[in-house]
Amino acid sequence: MEKSSQTGTRGQWGSKIGFILAAAGSAVGLGNIWKFPYLAGKNGGGAFVVVYILIVLLMGFTVMLAEITLGRHTQLNAFGAYRTLRRNWGWVGGLGVLAGFLILSFYSVVGGWVVSYIIKSVTGVLSQSNPELFGDMFGTLISNTVTPLLYHAIFMGMTLVIVFRGISGGIEKANKIMMPTLFIMIIILSIRSVTLQGASKGLQFLFTPDFSQFTARSFLDAMGQVFFSLSLGMGCMITYGSYLRKDTNLPQSALSIVLIDTSIALLAGIAILPAVFAFGFEPGQGPGLMFVTLPAVFSKMPLGSIFAFIFFLLVLFAALTSAISLLEVVVAYFVDQWKWSRAAATITMAVVIYLAGVPASLSMGVWSDITLLPGLGFFDTYDFIASNVLLPLGGMLLCIFVGWVWGTKKALYEITSGGRHAFGLAPIWVFLVKFISPIAILIIFIRSVAVIFQ
Ligand code: PHE
Repeated sequence: MEKSSQTGTRGQWGSKIGFILAAAGSAVGLGNIWKFPYLAGKNGGGAFVVVYILIVLLMGFTVMLAEITLGRHTQLNAFGAYRTLRRNWGWVGGLGVLAGFLILSFYSVVGGWVVSYIIKSVTGVLSQSNPELFGDMFGTLISNTVTPLLYHAIFMGMTLVIVFRGISGGIEKANKIMMPTLFIMIIILSIRSVTLQGASKGLQFLFTPDFSQFTARSFLDAMGQVFFSLSLGMGCMITYGSYLRKDTNLPQSALSIVLIDTSIALLAGIAILPAVFAFGFEPGQGPGLMFVTLPAVFSKMPLGSIFAFIFFLLVLFAALTSAISLLEVVVAYFVDQWKWSRAAATITMAVVIYLAGVPASLSMGVWSDITLLPGLGFFDTYDFIASNVLLPLGGMLLCIFVGWVWGTKKALYEITSGGRHAFGLAPIWVFLVKFISPIAILIIFIRSVAVIFQ
C-alpha cells in the first residue's frame, strides 16, 4: 500500500500517461467489447458508428472534461467534490457513488463468467465441444447457484487486491500492464479476423451506413452507450481527476481518453464481426455474442483455442480495469468523507458489493422468477437503474452544475491551469456544457424511463 494513504493524505498519479491509461482503462470495458459491436449491428452498422462518433465528440468529450476538471479542482471524491463547492449539491455526487456500487455488483458477476471462460479455454473445453453445445454450456454456467458465485468472488478478489494497493502503486501499475497488453491482443485478433475467408461481409456490416435501420431509438442507444462506455455520469472521472497534479493539460488528457475508448470499440467490432460472418453465424445479442457465438467461431478456426484464450484474457483485462475504477469511486468516498483507511474501505466495500451482486447472479437461475421492476429481475434492475437512470441523471446534473452553478469561468480557469495551457475550443465547450449536453441527456433520460413503464 502507498505510504501516503496511511498518513492520511490522498494518493496521486505517478505520471501523466499513468492517469491517461487508468482513465482509458476505466472507459474500455465490457461496454466496448460486446455491447458496441452488437449495437452497431442492430442499428444500421456504419450509420450507428457515424452517429456514435459525433455524440462522442460533442457530448462525450464535453462531459469527460467537465468531470476531470471538477475532480482536479476539488481534489475530492464525487460526493465531496460537489459538496465543497455547494453544500446542497453533495447528493448528486452521492448518486454517482451509488451508481458505482450498483454497476460493480453486476459487472463483477459478468467478470466472473469471463474468468470461467478463460479456464475453459485453457483446459480445452472450448475447443472440444460441439459448437451447438455452446449455448447450453453458457446457460448451465450462469443458472447454476454456487459456481458463478465462486467466480464472482475471484473477480471481486482481484479488483480488491489492486484497489487496496492505492493509486500509483495499485491502480496505475495494473493499468500500465493491462492496457498495453489489451491493445496488442486486440490488434492480433483484428488481424486474424479480417484475414479470414469471407471476412469482408462483417466489415461491410460494420461500416456500411444503412440509415433505414437507424431510428429514433438508435439515437438513444448511441447516447446511452457513449455515457456507459466513457464511464461518465457517476463521478468516476471526478475521482480519477482528483488524483491529478495541477499542471496536467486537461483538454489534451480528456481527448486522449475519449479517442482511446472509441478506437478500442471500433477495433472490437473489427475483431469480432468479420469472424462471426466468416463462419456463417449471425451477430447475436449481448452476452450471447461473447459467450456463445464467439466460442463457436473460435472452435472452427485453426489454432482456435489460442485465439479463444487471447480473447477472454483481453475481456478480463478490460473488465478488471473498469471494475477497479468502480470500486475506487466508492472507496474514495469512504476515505475522504468518513476518514476510513484505504485498507478498511476497500475490504469492507468489496465484501458489501460482492453480497449485493449475489442476487444478480442468482437471478440467472434459482431466482429468475423474482422481478423488481416490471419484467426485470435483480441483474437487469441493477443495470437499468444504474445505466439508464443514474448515469444520464448524473451527467445532466453535472453539466448544470459546471455550466450554471459552479460556473464555466471558474471551470475554465482550472482547465487551463490558470492560463498556462491554451484551450482554443473554450467557447464551444461552454456552449455544449451549458445547453446542448444537458438538454440532450434530459431527452435520453425521459425516454429510457418511459420505455420501462409504458
Ligand atoms: N466504461 C465501462 C465499460 O465500457 C463501464 C463503466 C461505467 C465503468 C461506468 C466505470 C463507470 O464497460
